[in-house]
Amino acid sequence: MLPPLSEDEQRHCDALAGLIRAAVQAAGGWLSFERFMDMALYAPGLGYYSAGARKLGPGGDFVTAPQMSALFSRCLARSCAGILRAAGGQVLELGAGTGRMAADLLRELELLGVLPERYAILEVSAELAQRQRQLLGALPPRLAGRVEWLDRLPQTFAGIVLANEVADALPCRRFLSAGGAVRELGVSLGTGGEFLERDAPADAALTAAYAQLVAELGTALPEGYRSELSLRVGPWVASLADCLGRGALLLFDYGLTQRHYYHPQRTHGTLRCHFRQRAHDDPYVNVGVQDITAWVDFTRVAHAAVAAGLELAGFATQAAFLLATGIEERVAEADGEVERARLSGEARRLIMPEEMGEAFKVMALTRGLDAPPEGFALQDLRDRL
Ligand SMILES: C[S@@+](CC[C@H](N)C(=O)[O-])C[C@H]1O[C@@H](n2cnc3c(N)ncnc32)[C@H](O)[C@@H]1O
Repeated sequence: MLPPLSEDEQRHCDALAGLIRAAVQAAGGWLSFERFMDMALYAPGLGYYSAGARKLGPGGDFVTAPQMSALFSRCLARSCAGILRAAGGQVLELGAGTGRMAADLLRELELLGVLPERYAILEVSAELAQRQRQLLGALPPRLAGRVEWLDRLPQTFAGIVLANEVADALPCRRFLSAGGAVRELGVSLGTGGEFLERDAPADAALTAAYAQLVAELGTALPEGYRSELSLRVGPWVASLADCLGRGALLLFDYGLTQRHYYHPQRTHGTLRCHFRQRAHDDPYVNVGVQDITAWVDFTRVAHAAVAAGLELAGFATQAAFLLATGIEERVAEADGEVERARLSGEARRLIMPEEMGEAFKVMALTRGLDAPPEGFALQDLRDRL
Protein backbone atom coordinates (compact mmCIF):
# COMPACT_ATOMS: atom_id res chain seq x y z
CA MET A 1 0.00 0.00 0.00
CA LEU A 2 1.31 3.43 -0.95
CA PRO A 3 0.94 6.26 1.56
CA PRO A 4 -2.13 8.45 0.89
CA LEU A 5 -1.74 11.77 -0.93
CA SER A 6 -2.09 15.05 0.91
CA GLU A 7 -4.88 17.37 -0.26
CA ASP A 8 -2.36 19.46 -2.21
CA GLU A 9 -0.88 16.39 -3.84
CA GLN A 10 -4.34 15.12 -4.75
CA ARG A 11 -5.23 18.46 -6.36
CA HIS A 12 -1.96 18.45 -8.27
CA CYS A 13 -2.48 14.86 -9.37
CA ASP A 14 -6.08 15.56 -10.48
CA ALA A 15 -5.00 18.59 -12.52
CA LEU A 16 -2.26 16.68 -14.35
CA ALA A 17 -4.44 13.60 -14.85
CA GLY A 18 -7.06 15.91 -16.43
CA LEU A 19 -4.47 17.32 -18.80
CA ILE A 20 -3.29 13.83 -19.79
CA ARG A 21 -6.89 12.65 -20.24
CA ALA A 22 -7.47 15.54 -22.64
CA ALA A 23 -4.32 14.52 -24.55
CA VAL A 24 -5.55 10.90 -24.77
CA GLN A 25 -8.89 12.09 -26.17
CA ALA A 26 -7.21 14.50 -28.58
CA ALA A 27 -5.04 11.62 -29.84
CA GLY A 28 -8.15 9.55 -30.66
CA GLY A 29 -8.38 7.55 -27.41
CA TRP A 30 -4.88 6.12 -27.04
CA LEU A 31 -1.57 7.73 -26.08
CA SER A 32 1.82 6.03 -26.25
CA PHE A 33 3.49 5.38 -22.92
CA GLU A 34 6.35 7.65 -24.00
CA ARG A 35 3.95 10.61 -24.32
CA PHE A 36 2.28 9.68 -21.03
CA MET A 37 5.65 9.56 -19.23
CA ASP A 38 6.73 12.81 -20.87
CA MET A 39 3.62 14.58 -19.58
CA ALA A 40 3.73 12.89 -16.16
CA LEU A 41 7.32 14.06 -15.61
CA TYR A 42 7.68 17.24 -17.66
CA ALA A 43 4.28 18.89 -18.44
CA PRO A 44 4.98 22.59 -17.78
CA GLY A 45 4.06 23.54 -14.20
CA LEU A 46 2.51 20.14 -13.42
CA GLY A 47 4.90 17.32 -14.38
CA TYR A 48 6.81 15.60 -11.58
CA TYR A 49 10.08 17.33 -12.46
CA SER A 50 8.49 20.61 -13.54
CA ALA A 51 6.42 21.29 -10.42
CA GLY A 52 7.41 22.22 -6.92
CA ALA A 53 7.41 19.15 -4.71
CA ARG A 54 10.35 17.93 -2.65
CA LYS A 55 11.57 15.05 -4.76
CA LEU A 56 15.14 14.22 -3.94
CA GLY A 57 16.75 13.44 -0.62
CA PRO A 58 15.67 11.65 2.56
CA GLY A 59 12.46 13.74 2.91
CA GLY A 60 11.54 13.23 -0.77
CA ASP A 61 10.72 10.28 -2.99
CA PHE A 62 14.16 8.81 -3.61
CA VAL A 63 17.83 9.34 -2.79
CA THR A 64 20.54 9.39 -5.44
CA ALA A 65 24.20 8.54 -4.85
CA PRO A 66 25.48 12.15 -4.62
CA GLN A 67 22.57 12.94 -2.28
CA MET A 68 23.38 9.97 -0.12
CA SER A 69 27.01 10.85 0.45
CA ALA A 70 29.62 13.42 -0.51
CA LEU A 71 31.98 10.45 -0.91
CA PHE A 72 30.46 9.89 -4.36
CA SER A 73 31.40 13.36 -5.62
CA ARG A 74 34.76 13.35 -3.84
CA CYS A 75 35.72 10.17 -5.72
CA LEU A 76 34.30 11.48 -8.99
CA ALA A 77 36.38 14.64 -8.45
CA ARG A 78 39.54 12.51 -8.72
CA SER A 79 38.49 11.27 -12.12
CA CYS A 80 37.52 14.79 -13.22
CA ALA A 81 40.79 16.22 -11.92
CA GLY A 82 42.79 13.85 -14.12
CA ILE A 83 40.81 14.89 -17.20
CA LEU A 84 41.06 18.60 -16.40
CA ARG A 85 44.83 18.32 -15.84
CA ALA A 86 45.36 16.44 -19.09
CA ALA A 87 42.94 18.25 -21.35
CA GLY A 88 41.78 21.41 -19.58
CA GLY A 89 38.25 22.67 -20.18
CA GLN A 90 35.19 23.17 -18.02
CA VAL A 91 32.52 21.01 -16.39
CA LEU A 92 28.95 20.71 -17.67
CA GLU A 93 26.44 18.85 -15.51
CA LEU A 94 23.12 17.72 -16.93
CA GLY A 95 20.08 17.40 -14.65
CA ALA A 96 21.81 18.54 -11.47
CA GLY A 97 18.92 17.73 -9.09
CA THR A 98 19.38 19.65 -5.85
CA GLY A 99 22.88 20.83 -6.85
CA ARG A 100 24.53 18.71 -4.18
CA MET A 101 26.94 16.98 -6.56
CA ALA A 102 28.00 20.32 -8.07
CA ALA A 103 28.68 21.77 -4.60
CA ASP A 104 30.70 18.76 -3.42
CA LEU A 105 32.60 18.49 -6.70
CA LEU A 106 33.58 22.16 -6.69
CA ARG A 107 34.85 21.91 -3.09
CA GLU A 108 36.88 18.81 -3.86
CA LEU A 109 38.28 20.10 -7.15
CA GLU A 110 39.47 23.18 -5.26
CA LEU A 111 41.25 20.96 -2.71
CA LEU A 112 42.83 19.05 -5.60
CA GLY A 113 43.98 22.34 -7.14
CA VAL A 114 42.10 21.94 -10.44
CA LEU A 115 39.06 24.18 -10.22
CA PRO A 116 37.53 24.74 -13.65
CA GLU A 117 36.78 28.33 -14.52
CA ARG A 118 33.15 27.48 -15.22
CA TYR A 119 30.75 24.83 -13.93
CA ALA A 120 27.73 24.89 -16.21
CA ILE A 121 24.40 23.24 -15.42
CA LEU A 122 21.73 22.32 -17.93
CA GLU A 123 18.50 21.54 -16.07
CA VAL A 124 15.07 21.06 -17.60
CA SER A 125 13.19 21.60 -14.33
CA ALA A 126 12.76 25.28 -13.40
CA GLU A 127 11.92 24.28 -9.84
CA LEU A 128 15.10 22.20 -9.43
CA ALA A 129 17.19 24.92 -11.09
CA GLN A 130 15.87 27.28 -8.39
CA ARG A 131 16.88 24.83 -5.65
CA GLN A 132 20.32 24.52 -7.27
CA ARG A 133 20.70 28.32 -7.27
CA GLN A 134 19.94 28.44 -3.56
CA LEU A 135 22.31 25.67 -2.58
CA LEU A 136 25.16 26.75 -4.84
CA GLY A 137 24.63 30.44 -4.00
CA ALA A 138 25.58 29.57 -0.41
CA LEU A 139 29.06 28.38 -1.47
CA PRO A 140 31.99 30.78 -0.97
CA PRO A 141 31.89 33.36 -3.79
CA ARG A 142 35.10 32.00 -5.37
CA LEU A 143 33.17 28.74 -6.05
CA ALA A 144 29.62 30.06 -6.48
CA GLY A 145 30.86 32.59 -9.05
CA ARG A 146 31.92 29.78 -11.38
CA VAL A 147 28.46 28.24 -11.70
CA GLU A 148 26.22 29.17 -14.58
CA TRP A 149 22.92 27.78 -15.89
CA LEU A 150 22.40 27.09 -19.57
CA ASP A 151 19.06 26.73 -21.31
CA ARG A 152 20.43 24.58 -24.10
CA LEU A 153 23.54 22.61 -24.93
CA PRO A 154 26.46 24.82 -26.03
CA GLN A 155 27.53 24.49 -29.67
CA THR A 156 30.94 23.29 -28.60
CA PHE A 157 32.23 22.27 -25.22
CA ALA A 158 35.65 21.05 -24.04
CA GLY A 159 36.08 19.29 -20.72
CA ILE A 160 33.76 17.01 -18.77
CA VAL A 161 30.05 16.38 -19.24
CA LEU A 162 28.42 14.65 -16.26
CA ALA A 163 24.98 13.09 -15.92
CA ASN A 164 23.92 11.13 -12.86
CA GLU A 165 20.52 9.45 -13.15
CA VAL A 166 19.42 11.55 -16.11
CA ALA A 167 19.22 8.91 -18.87
CA ASP A 168 16.74 6.88 -16.78
CA ALA A 169 14.46 9.92 -16.61
CA LEU A 170 14.15 10.21 -20.42
CA PRO A 171 10.66 9.09 -21.48
CA CYS A 172 10.77 5.64 -23.06
CA ARG A 173 8.53 3.46 -25.22
CA ARG A 174 7.00 0.29 -23.79
CA PHE A 175 6.31 -2.71 -25.96
CA LEU A 176 4.68 -6.09 -25.96
CA SER A 177 5.79 -9.01 -28.07
CA ALA A 178 2.66 -10.59 -29.56
CA GLY A 179 2.16 -13.06 -32.40
CA GLY A 180 5.78 -12.72 -33.51
CA ALA A 181 5.46 -8.94 -33.89
CA VAL A 182 5.80 -5.90 -31.70
CA ARG A 183 2.90 -3.90 -30.28
CA GLU A 184 3.22 -0.66 -28.41
CA LEU A 185 1.90 -0.16 -24.89
CA GLY A 186 0.13 3.03 -23.98
CA VAL A 187 -2.91 4.36 -22.19
CA SER A 188 -6.57 4.71 -22.96
CA LEU A 189 -9.42 5.78 -20.65
CA GLY A 190 -11.91 3.66 -18.73
CA THR A 191 -15.57 4.66 -18.36
CA GLY A 192 -14.72 6.61 -15.18
CA GLY A 193 -11.82 8.37 -16.93
CA GLU A 194 -9.24 6.14 -15.24
CA PHE A 195 -6.05 5.25 -17.12
CA LEU A 196 -6.04 1.78 -18.63
CA GLU A 197 -2.98 0.19 -20.14
CA ARG A 198 -3.71 -0.87 -23.73
CA ASP A 199 -1.58 -2.02 -26.62
CA ALA A 200 -1.81 -0.73 -30.18
CA PRO A 201 0.08 -1.38 -33.43
CA ALA A 202 3.67 -0.13 -33.12
CA ASP A 203 4.60 2.86 -35.27
CA ALA A 204 7.41 2.71 -37.84
CA ALA A 205 10.10 3.97 -35.44
CA LEU A 206 9.36 1.39 -32.73
CA THR A 207 8.92 -1.40 -35.29
CA ALA A 208 12.34 -0.65 -36.78
CA ALA A 209 14.05 -0.36 -33.38
CA TYR A 210 12.47 -3.61 -32.21
CA ALA A 211 13.54 -5.44 -35.38
CA GLN A 212 17.09 -4.20 -34.87
CA LEU A 213 17.01 -5.24 -31.21
CA VAL A 214 15.87 -8.76 -32.07
CA ALA A 215 18.56 -8.97 -34.76
CA GLU A 216 21.23 -7.89 -32.28
CA LEU A 217 19.98 -10.32 -29.63
CA GLY A 218 19.99 -13.06 -32.24
CA THR A 219 16.73 -14.51 -30.94
CA ALA A 220 13.05 -13.54 -30.81
CA LEU A 221 11.58 -12.36 -27.51
CA PRO A 222 9.02 -14.72 -25.92
CA GLU A 223 5.32 -14.29 -26.60
CA GLY A 224 3.77 -11.83 -24.12
CA TYR A 225 7.16 -10.32 -23.24
CA ARG A 226 6.94 -6.68 -22.10
CA SER A 227 9.77 -4.25 -21.76
CA GLU A 228 10.92 -0.72 -22.51
CA LEU A 229 12.94 0.65 -25.36
CA SER A 230 14.28 4.19 -25.30
CA LEU A 231 14.13 5.89 -28.67
CA ARG A 232 15.38 9.09 -27.02
CA VAL A 233 18.57 7.98 -25.38
CA GLY A 234 20.47 7.52 -28.67
CA PRO A 235 19.66 11.00 -30.04
CA TRP A 236 20.38 12.46 -26.58
CA VAL A 237 23.84 10.87 -26.49
CA ALA A 238 24.44 11.93 -30.11
CA SER A 239 23.56 15.54 -29.21
CA LEU A 240 26.07 15.43 -26.35
CA ALA A 241 28.69 13.90 -28.65
CA ASP A 242 28.04 16.65 -31.20
CA CYS A 243 28.89 19.39 -28.76
CA LEU A 244 31.79 17.63 -26.99
CA GLY A 245 35.20 18.63 -28.34
CA ARG A 246 38.19 17.29 -26.41
CA GLY A 247 37.08 15.70 -23.17
CA ALA A 248 34.84 13.08 -21.61
CA LEU A 249 31.22 12.30 -21.03
CA LEU A 250 30.65 10.37 -17.79
CA LEU A 251 27.23 8.76 -17.44
CA PHE A 252 26.09 7.20 -14.18
CA ASP A 253 22.83 5.29 -13.97
CA TYR A 254 21.19 2.03 -13.09
CA GLY A 255 21.32 -0.06 -16.14
CA LEU A 256 22.28 -3.23 -17.91
CA THR A 257 23.89 -4.47 -21.07
CA GLN A 258 21.38 -5.28 -23.82
CA ARG A 259 21.64 -9.02 -23.28
CA HIS A 260 20.75 -8.68 -19.60
CA TYR A 261 18.16 -5.95 -20.12
CA TYR A 262 16.24 -8.10 -22.59
CA HIS A 263 16.90 -11.42 -20.89
CA PRO A 264 14.03 -13.81 -21.75
CA GLN A 265 13.19 -14.15 -18.07
CA ARG A 266 12.89 -10.37 -17.48
CA THR A 267 9.35 -10.56 -18.81
CA HIS A 268 8.06 -7.27 -17.39
CA GLY A 269 10.88 -4.85 -18.08
CA THR A 270 12.52 -2.47 -15.65
CA LEU A 271 10.05 0.38 -15.23
CA ARG A 272 9.89 1.65 -11.64
CA CYS A 273 8.03 4.43 -9.85
CA HIS A 274 9.22 6.14 -6.69
CA PHE A 275 6.96 7.75 -4.15
CA ARG A 276 8.15 8.69 -0.65
CA GLN A 277 11.04 6.21 -0.65
CA ARG A 278 8.81 3.36 -1.88
CA ALA A 279 9.40 1.72 -5.22
CA HIS A 280 6.51 0.16 -7.13
CA ASP A 281 5.55 -0.47 -10.75
CA ASP A 282 2.27 1.35 -11.42
CA PRO A 283 2.93 4.52 -13.43
CA TYR A 284 -0.78 5.30 -13.72
CA VAL A 285 -1.29 6.26 -10.05
CA ASN A 286 -0.08 9.42 -8.33
CA VAL A 287 0.63 11.08 -11.68
CA GLY A 288 2.75 14.18 -11.23
CA VAL A 289 3.72 13.38 -7.65
CA GLN A 290 5.77 10.23 -8.21
CA ASP A 291 8.89 9.60 -10.24
CA ILE A 292 8.83 7.19 -13.19
CA THR A 293 12.07 5.68 -14.46
CA ALA A 294 13.33 2.86 -16.62
CA TRP A 295 16.76 1.29 -16.44
CA VAL A 296 19.29 2.28 -19.08
CA ASP A 297 20.30 -0.05 -21.91
CA PHE A 298 24.02 0.76 -21.88
CA THR A 299 24.60 -1.15 -25.11
CA ARG A 300 22.26 1.31 -26.87
CA VAL A 301 24.12 4.22 -25.26
CA ALA A 302 27.51 2.86 -26.35
CA HIS A 303 26.36 2.24 -29.93
CA ALA A 304 24.97 5.77 -30.22
CA ALA A 305 28.15 7.28 -28.77
CA VAL A 306 30.49 5.34 -31.02
CA ALA A 307 28.35 6.11 -34.08
CA ALA A 308 28.66 9.79 -33.13
CA GLY A 309 32.46 9.54 -33.05
CA LEU A 310 33.17 9.10 -29.32
CA GLU A 311 35.47 6.48 -27.91
CA LEU A 312 34.09 3.98 -25.42
CA ALA A 313 36.80 4.48 -22.80
CA GLY A 314 35.31 2.71 -19.80
CA PHE A 315 32.35 0.79 -18.46
CA ALA A 316 32.23 -0.49 -14.89
CA THR A 317 29.97 -0.85 -11.89
CA GLN A 318 29.63 2.10 -9.55
CA ALA A 319 31.40 0.01 -6.87
CA ALA A 320 34.44 -0.63 -9.09
CA PHE A 321 34.56 3.04 -10.10
CA LEU A 322 34.39 4.33 -6.52
CA LEU A 323 36.97 1.82 -5.28
CA ALA A 324 39.31 2.79 -8.13
CA THR A 325 38.91 6.48 -7.32
CA GLY A 326 39.75 6.08 -3.65
CA ILE A 327 36.57 5.66 -1.62
CA GLU A 328 38.35 3.49 0.95
CA GLU A 329 41.15 6.06 1.35
CA ARG A 330 38.58 8.85 1.89
CA VAL A 331 36.94 6.79 4.65
CA ALA A 332 40.30 5.89 6.22
CA GLU A 333 41.46 9.49 6.40
CA ALA A 334 38.26 10.64 8.18
CA ASP A 335 38.73 12.74 11.28
CA GLY A 336 38.03 10.53 14.31
CA GLU A 337 36.19 7.27 14.97
CA VAL A 338 32.65 8.66 14.82
CA GLU A 339 33.17 10.34 11.45
CA ARG A 340 34.95 7.24 10.12
CA ALA A 341 32.03 5.02 11.16
CA ARG A 342 29.55 7.41 9.51
CA LEU A 343 31.50 7.51 6.25
CA SER A 344 32.01 3.79 6.32
CA GLY A 345 28.23 3.28 6.48
CA GLU A 346 27.74 5.65 3.55
CA ALA A 347 30.47 3.92 1.55
CA ARG A 348 28.79 0.57 2.11
CA ARG A 349 25.52 1.86 0.66
CA LEU A 350 27.37 3.18 -2.38
CA ILE A 351 29.41 0.05 -3.10
CA MET A 352 27.71 -3.03 -1.69
CA PRO A 353 26.21 -5.20 -4.46
CA GLU A 354 22.80 -5.42 -2.78
CA GLU A 355 22.68 -1.62 -2.41
CA MET A 356 23.88 0.69 -5.22
CA GLY A 357 27.21 -0.95 -6.05
CA GLU A 358 26.25 -3.34 -8.86
CA ALA A 359 23.00 -2.08 -10.34
CA PHE A 360 24.53 1.33 -10.99
CA LYS A 361 27.07 1.56 -13.78
CA VAL A 362 29.45 4.22 -15.03
CA MET A 363 30.24 4.73 -18.70
CA ALA A 364 33.07 6.98 -19.94
CA LEU A 365 32.82 8.25 -23.52
CA THR A 366 35.73 10.36 -24.64
CA ARG A 367 37.17 12.36 -27.51
CA GLY A 368 40.83 13.22 -27.99
CA LEU A 369 42.11 11.98 -24.61
CA ASP A 370 45.42 10.10 -24.47
CA ALA A 371 44.32 7.87 -21.58
CA PRO A 372 40.95 6.74 -20.21
CA PRO A 373 39.62 8.73 -17.23
CA GLU A 374 40.58 7.44 -13.79
CA GLY A 375 38.03 5.02 -12.31
CA PHE A 376 38.18 2.07 -14.68
CA ALA A 377 41.41 0.37 -13.59
CA LEU A 378 39.72 -2.29 -11.45
CA GLN A 379 37.05 -3.47 -13.88
CA ASP A 380 36.45 -3.38 -17.61
CA LEU A 381 32.96 -4.49 -18.65
CA ARG A 382 33.16 -3.07 -22.19
CA ASP A 383 33.33 -6.48 -23.83
CA ARG A 384 29.94 -7.39 -22.31
CA LEU A 385 28.13 -4.57 -24.13
C1 LIG B 1 16.64 11.46 -11.10
S1 LIG B 1 17.00 13.16 -11.15
C2 LIG B 1 18.75 13.13 -10.80
C3 LIG B 1 19.26 14.42 -10.20
C4 LIG B 1 20.74 14.49 -9.86
N1 LIG B 1 21.57 14.28 -11.02
C5 LIG B 1 21.11 13.53 -8.78
O1 LIG B 1 21.80 12.57 -9.05
O2 LIG B 1 20.70 13.75 -7.62
C6 LIG B 1 16.92 13.53 -12.88
C7 LIG B 1 17.31 14.94 -13.22
O3 LIG B 1 17.46 15.08 -14.64
C8 LIG B 1 16.76 16.24 -15.06
N2 LIG B 1 16.52 16.04 -16.51
C9 LIG B 1 15.66 15.20 -17.10
N3 LIG B 1 15.80 15.24 -18.45
C10 LIG B 1 16.81 16.09 -18.71
C11 LIG B 1 17.45 16.54 -19.90
N4 LIG B 1 17.05 16.11 -21.11
N5 LIG B 1 18.47 17.43 -19.79
C12 LIG B 1 18.86 17.87 -18.58
N6 LIG B 1 18.29 17.48 -17.42
C13 LIG B 1 17.28 16.61 -17.48
C14 LIG B 1 15.60 16.32 -14.10
O4 LIG B 1 14.97 17.55 -14.07
C15 LIG B 1 16.33 15.99 -12.78
O5 LIG B 1 17.06 17.09 -12.29
